[in-house]
Amino acid sequence: MIDIIGAGSLGLLFAGRLASSGTEVRLWTRTLEQARMIACEGITVFDKKGRTAVHVPGDRLQVAPLADWQRLNSHTAVQWILLMTKQGGVDEVLKQILPVAKTERATGIVCLQNGIGHIERIRRAWPEAVLYPAVTTEGAKRQGAASVVHAGAGITEIGWPEEQEKAQDRNFKQYVLNRLLAAGFDVCLSKEIENGMYRKLLINAVINPLTAIWRIRNGELLSDPVRLHMMRKLYDEGIQVYEAHGIHWESGWWDQIMNVCQATAENHSSMLADVLAQSMTEVASINGQLVQMAELAGVTAPTHEVLWQLIEGMRLKEE
Ligand code: PAF
Repeated sequence: MIDIIGAGSLGLLFAGRLASSGTEVRLWTRTLEQARMIACEGITVFDKKGRTAVHVPGDRLQVAPLADWQRLNSHTAVQWILLMTKQGGVDEVLKQILPVAKTERATGIVCLQNGIGHIERIRRAWPEAVLYPAVTTEGAKRQGAASVVHAGAGITEIGWPEEQEKAQDRNFKQYVLNRLLAAGFDVCLSKEIENGMYRKLLINAVINPLTAIWRIRNGELLSDPVRLHMMRKLYDEGIQVYEAHGIHWESGWWDQIMNVCQATAENHSSMLADVLAQSMTEVASINGQLVQMAELAGVTAPTHEVLWQLIEGMRLKEE
């Protein structure tokens, strides 16, 4: 069984495809209302042309609000978690899980958050858990409580230990990895996940705040010289921060950002989606983290700082 925490766009996509390919999943939602809707409607995954790619009826799903975690897990050890909440939801997840976390059998957690800072927070709070940091370029857009549009197939990279694999890692390969592959996800194990996380951080730090401020789709960033100029400024400042920290970066990353905008041209970035839904964004874990890294290294990232403050200043409500 795989526990998927978070029923946003990625949570629904992974839960729907895993369940439809025969994996037992439990899906944990933020609210009771969403759990009831999913239990009633089932999960539907549409392809980008609007055709139904996957439908899992509600009676074939186990779905519950996160607030029920302690009641439902007080006797059993949870083995595999796909943590799919936004950065802002991670502390609430830990608050619900830790009181009944079992130490006799390590829990493996695949962490799929945007931005950085969450891995250290989870590790500090739950040292016995085995963490698999991950990044994905899957493009998904939630539609209502129980449906998601799979807007673009991507690759999911999962961090793999450089040292020798432990028993837990071998079980992970046999179970979680195989299930993800069987569900049709393009997944690879990476010994350089940190690099992948910094690459994704920069992609998000360039695309997300600008699309959120201008309220435009990802592709619209490319259609205007002023927008491209701002993207380049954010990119150059980010690279300067990475250089100051000795973080490896590659000259191809700028082209990758352009490619992501093209491949997801019709999408709202996750930050724009949050702004439109009036919910708190991940800007502090993305541009805010870059600003803090800049301060630590004695350099500046003024464009990131201004965008961070502008978006924080929207005072969007907590999740
Ligand atoms: O956060 C997002 O929306 C996505 O990570 C990305 C890559 C910017 C595409 O929209």
